[in-house]
Amino acid sequence: MPTHNDPFREAREQSGLQITECNGERIPYILGLKDLRKTVKDWQNFSSDHPFKVVPHSEENLRSMRQIPIEMDPPDHTDYRAIVEPFFKRPTHTEYMVDMAEMVSSMVSDALDKGELEAVHEFALPLQCRALARLLNVPESEAEVWRAWGLHALTEGSGLEAYTAKQFTAAEKNQGDDFFSMLNGVEFKGRALTFEEKQGIANVTFAGGKDTVINVVSSIIVYMSEHPGALDFLRQDEKYIMTACEEFVRYVSPLTVISRSCPHISKVGDHEIPAGSRVGLCWPSANRDASVFKKPDEVVLDRVPNPHIGFGYGIHNCLGAPQARLIIRSLLKSLSEQVKSIQLISVVPRIEKEESYTRQVGYDRVVVKLSSW
Ligand code: HEM
Repeated sequence: MPTHNDPFREAREQSGLQITECNGERIPYILGLKDLRKTVKDWQNFSSDHPFKVVPHSEENLRSMRQIPIEMDPPDHTDYRAIVEPFFKRPTHTEYMVDMAEMVSSMVSDALDKGELEAVHEFALPLQCRALARLLNVPESEAEVWRAWGLHALTEGSGLEAYTAKQFTAAEKNQGDDFFSMLNGVEFKGRALTFEEKQGIANVTFAGGKDTVINVVSSIIVYMSEHPGALDFLRQDEKYIMTACEEFVRYVSPLTVISRSCPHISKVGDHEIPAGSRVGLCWPSANRDASVFKKPDEVVLDRVPNPHIGFGYGIHNCLGAPQARLIIRSLLKSLSEQVKSIQLISVVPRIEKEESYTRQVGYDRVVVKLSSW
């Protein structure tokens, strides 16, 4: 199978929808970029106000509380998002950016010293965890706890809810400048947040940014090994770090689908969506839409414009995007500065298999050898 295949092309070009069966429910996935943008903007008819049903269906039974703010519509969504947004914008501060760049640079130089490296568990996973410790402003030692949970915060037996509950209690006793203390102390509509609300915010913060980031990081490393000229290209001009970052998010699109429910009869293109059903927002399909992107199946490191929607679109656009972008840019910069070439030794792709499609979202294992100048 080619890497990062596009299993939706035929259906996208023929009808714009693909029905996927999920736990007995037939969900039309919306495939074209224009249709997807239109749907996402119309939150009254394509609602996120359905706990446990917005995030990918494989995660439905893996938690006990509603995730906030992702499983909500305005005005609640707007109010909750406003209280957490300042924390998620920390990666746009200069000091934070410098610290992240130094951390990633030292991880790349350690990887060079090591010689052979398993880049998913020994590089992408610790990188994501150490970066999250910075975002949440907690001691870096916590990253080791999260690393032990594996590649996915919810599915690999992490005890995430028990962990975050413990952190909220600890932060009550020892108020600091961290994420848990902020949520304990914040005033929401004239009151404190309930325990369940705090848990719902923490849950999506941990789950949303784990495998997504790891899959993009490992995919970049494999891509660089298979395209020896790519690092030389990035070295030519700093501006390619930005364009390449967006292009890898478009091309990898690690999050396949997020759903919306339809309280009323709705339309997507020419198709009628019955009241009471769900639709799937298929980000990777929209990001390969040939009516928008030239050479959609190729990584074009200097692609401009690049109107991808890998981080979503509209009011629910990814709160973690500044963090993800900073991680990816720091990685591309460090690789281009320090690494001459990457030799691929072996890979095990991470495959998502559903009844109606099979798609590569990243890698389970990548063994490489990095060489310096
Ligand atoms: C490459 C990495 C990432 C990708 C591709 C990605 C993708 C997405 C997408 C497509 C959405 C839109 C969901 C919707 O419309 O319902 C979203 C929302 C969200 N993401 Fe990310 N994400 C990434 C990284 C992160 C990180 C690092 C975090 C946190 C640390 C995070 C936290 C969130 C949250 C909290 C939301 C909900 C925002 C809202 O409902 O207003 N994500 N993400």
